[in-house]
Amino acid sequence: MTSTTTEGSATITTHKGKLSKKLPVFYNPLMKFNRDISIILLNSIKRPLIIADPLAGSGIRSIRFIKELKKFKSISINDNNEQAIKNIKQNLKLNNIKNKNITITKKDANEFLIQSTGFDYIDIDPFGSPNPFLDAAIKRIARHGILAATATDTAALTGTYPKACRRKYWATPLRNELMHEVGIRILIRKIQLIAAQYEKAITPIFSYAKDHYYRVFFHSQKSKTACDNILKQHKFFYYCTNCTNQSIYKQICCSTRTQLQAGPLWTGQLHDKKLTKTMLKNSINEQTTNFLKLINKEANTLGFIDLHKVSKKTKTPIIKTTDAIKKIKDATPTHFSSHAIKTNKPIEEIKRLLR
Ligand SMILES: C[S@@+](CC[C@H](N)C(=O)[O-])C[C@H]1O[C@@H](n2cnc3c(N)ncnc32)[C@H](O)[C@@H]1O
Repeated sequence: MTSTTTEGSATITTHKGKLSKKLPVFYNPLMKFNRDISIILLNSIKRPLIIADPLAGSGIRSIRFIKELKKFKSISINDNNEQAIKNIKQNLKLNNIKNKNITITKKDANEFLIQSTGFDYIDIDPFGSPNPFLDAAIKRIARHGILAATATDTAALTGTYPKACRRKYWATPLRNELMHEVGIRILIRKIQLIAAQYEKAITPIFSYAKDHYYRVFFHSQKSKTACDNILKQHKFFYYCTNCTNQSIYKQICCSTRTQLQAGPLWTGQLHDKKLTKTMLKNSINEQTTNFLKLINKEANTLGFIDLHKVSKKTKTPIIKTTDAIKKIKDATPTHFSSHAIKTNKPIEEIKRLLR
């Protein structure tokens, strides 16, 4: 059974049924935001790009790229599922797309990438972890290209399964209010390590955690020195369960028993501030505008203070995020939590200011 759905400027035929990988062709309407952000980001990059969609599903992402990007050089659409390929062809027809610069292939994504001559933009949007496709994607990302990766296996990255996180992401997660920021930074480091093997330095230019997934866009550069500088920013993260003190240095504030160690993780920027400004200008709907406004305010620093936790510790009433930001000079909101602030101030000073 199929039905017709409209998303952005695309209309596609989708398979009806419970949302799962078992659907004949996978289409998740909840990932519209993920695709919206990709379009805004690509429209904020001035040059036309050679684009790869190696795990295309229904083709919704590519069809929206074709219809909504101001410019592109070519788009290569791929999936290893026979039915997905049929659906992609049907959907291209439905949208009246006859562009010569579009190719469709039915290959394993790694084979598709390795056999190519390379791309300026590769979008890895898999079921679960991007791990199986990272090596080939990094090998085929062009100089100054952009690599995008989605991870939906957040249970490993947020510490529900810490052993799985160590096996798959070579780091220890954290299971508390900071788990999503720690999780996405662990994911970033893992992808950077894969790239460093090929002397490619990849820097996050836009990263976020939302619903059940993480999304990161990297700028790629071929440079040994830049790789070394990336690796210098991989560190452990320490968190005190007693006073919520956070640091990249092992320092005992309360007791050795209250210190948790997470990582190694990426301690550098999550966003390129110039890019996020342009993205806000190119926003396409209210949801993306509100989100991009928040990202533009958010500091690039590591960690944040949960205001509910602070009020519990200090036995004072909960303070609103907007009020906390007014009281603490360098404080910014964070997309990781609506009741938290990012600040460089020490925890004891924050507690004093908020009392
Ligand atoms: C999460 S879905 C992709 C969703 C799509 N990118 C979108 O935005 O709607 C993952 C897709 O990857 C395909 N896939 C899984 N393993 C693959 C592989 N090794 N090579 C190529 N395609 C694969 C599946 O058939 C499925 O269509």
